[in-house]
Amino acid sequence: MKKNKIKKRIDLTEKKYDVVKSKVAEQSGVYVVSVSSTHAQIPLDSIVCGDALQVLKSFPADFVDLIVTSPPYADKRQNSYGGIHPERYVQWFLPIAQELKRVLKPSGTFVLNIKEGVSEGQRETYVLELILEMKRQGWLWTEEYIWHKRNSYPGKWPNRFRDAWEHCLQFNKEKKFAMYQESVMVPMSDWAKARLKNLSETDKRRDESKVGSGFGKKIANWVGRRMAYPDNVLHLATESCSKPYWRFN
Ligand SMILES: C[S@@+](CC[C@H](N)C(=O)[O-])C[C@H]1O[C@@H](n2cnc3c(N)ncnc32)[C@H](O)[C@@H]1O
Repeated sequence: MKKNKIKKRIDLTEKKYDVVKSKVAEQSGVYVVSVSSTHAQIPLDSIVCGDALQVLKSFPADFVDLIVTSPPYADKRQNSYGGIHPERYVQWFLPIAQELKRVLKPSGTFVLNIKEGVSEGQRETYVLELILEMKRQGWLWTEEYIWHKRNSYPGKWPNRFRDAWEHCLQFNKEKKFAMYQESVMVPMSDWAKARLKNLSETDKRRDESKVGSGFGKKIANWVGRRMAYPDNVLHLATESCSKPYWRFN
């Protein structure tokens, strides 16, 4: 263990953290804080290391604004951090989801980054099953963002093309949650220059959907605007790290 890299020591005086303690001791370069003190005082930019279920249980209710997590891809990374068989995945994750729901503020958001693998030539279904079970648990499944992995590794498979995206499933406790749309606006793309140059009569009024979906648009509203709201596809490259993963099983 490289002590000089530890910024703060974890306080593992509580018996329930004994298991975590031995795992922390195997890690190098981790940044940890007390998990048994008053969590209302956890400083910003801190990482609490431990088993998610155990650590979450020690947090107060309605405490967190945003949860983003990337749990194991079932058992597809056995060699790096172990895993959970796809058939047991939902039952494994539900108690964690229950705790996440407890600690999340009513105005908060939970984003679950996940991707099903392929077994015997078919996509696994545990992500779909998990969504349904989480809804039964009381979560609202409010949105799905697609993470497009810009640098997905090329390859050849007999019956599919390479994986280049993952789910970022958004769950909330309440229909009205905190969302700061103006903070994430993006520049209008180049299509707007040509598209907004000569407006038709239809462009100047609200054009309701012809198929009765309730979706309508008034193109003229965007004339002269420099910024627009983004869509729900995130184009981000993956980054790799040479540090080993924690193993929990
Ligand atoms: C898909 S990886 C996520 C990797 C992460 N997004 C990153 O970029 O490093 C899954 C992670 O979940 C961790 N993990 C597995 N079981 C866990 C548990 N019970 N509590 C907390 N973390 C766990 C693994 O150690 C691994 O780091």
